[in-house]
Amino acid sequence: MRLLPLLLISLFVITVVSGIIYPGDGGYGGGGGRDSYYSSSSSSSEEHGHGHRPPHRPRPPHRPRPPRPPPQRDPECEDGWMTFDRPQGKWCIKVFNGGNLAQYTAQALCQNHGANLTGLQTANERVQVANAGRVISNANGGGFAEIWISGTRRPGCNRRTDCAPMNTFQWTDGHTTGTDGMYWPGPEPNAFWRNDWGNQNCLELHVSVADGRAARYGYPHASLDDQHCPQTEVRLYACGKLAK
Ligand SMILES: *[C@@H]1O[C@H](CO)[C@@H](O)[C@H](O)[C@H]1NC(C)=O
Repeated sequence: MRLLPLLLISLFVITVVSGIIYPGDGGYGGGGGRDSYYSSSSSSSEEHGHGHRPPHRPRPPHRPRPPRPPPQRDPECEDGWMTFDRPQGKWCIKVFNGGNLAQYTAQALCQNHGANLTGLQTANERVQVANAGRVISNANGGGFAEIWISGTRRPGCNRRTDCAPMNTFQWTDGHTTGTDGMYWPGPEPNAFWRNDWGNQNCLELHVSVADGRAARYGYPHASLDDQHCPQTEVRLYACGKLAK
């Protein structure tokens, strides 16, 4: 068969040719001159990092990190705002001196603070807000004072006898619930009617000058009263909002 010699010749030719093409691999050693040429060339190219390394592969494109979430911290009330831990979240209240202002003016001023006129969730909130109002009132001439708070008369409760006192008003700040923060003195809410202003559809909190002293009409400090919304004899207002 002539196949075997042909195969051997082919192998020989392949070996020689590959030795010529890839001499650096050392398969085809020549004279000293060539050796030194390849070795020097090889070492110098190693120094420059262009040796027989695999071809440079481009890096995957830089992917920006997703922004880190802000560090976790408890929500807080701003400086000057009282903090109350309600079941529905930390609640912030601040009492302001409004001079003489209608309820809707006070509500608009609260909205400037990102708040509403506040409701009262508990008896403690009611007393704390009245106490804060007393400090402001006494620093501004003293005397009886009232504080606008949240709340509106429920439909169907337009007469004193239509609804039980605790069912007569509802909070309107979007957060306060229940009636634990309500305290009605004597005949209140009495739905006092004025021909020019109509019914008393807004809510105020009475403030006395000191412990042991009565507020207006002989009512206790920190008691609720229904009031005409346009009444500008009310000097203070209490804003409320969730802590952030
Ligand atoms: C204000 O009250 C309304 C409901 O009357 C509510 O939807 C809104 O979220 C409240 N705003 C703030 C800042 O709590």
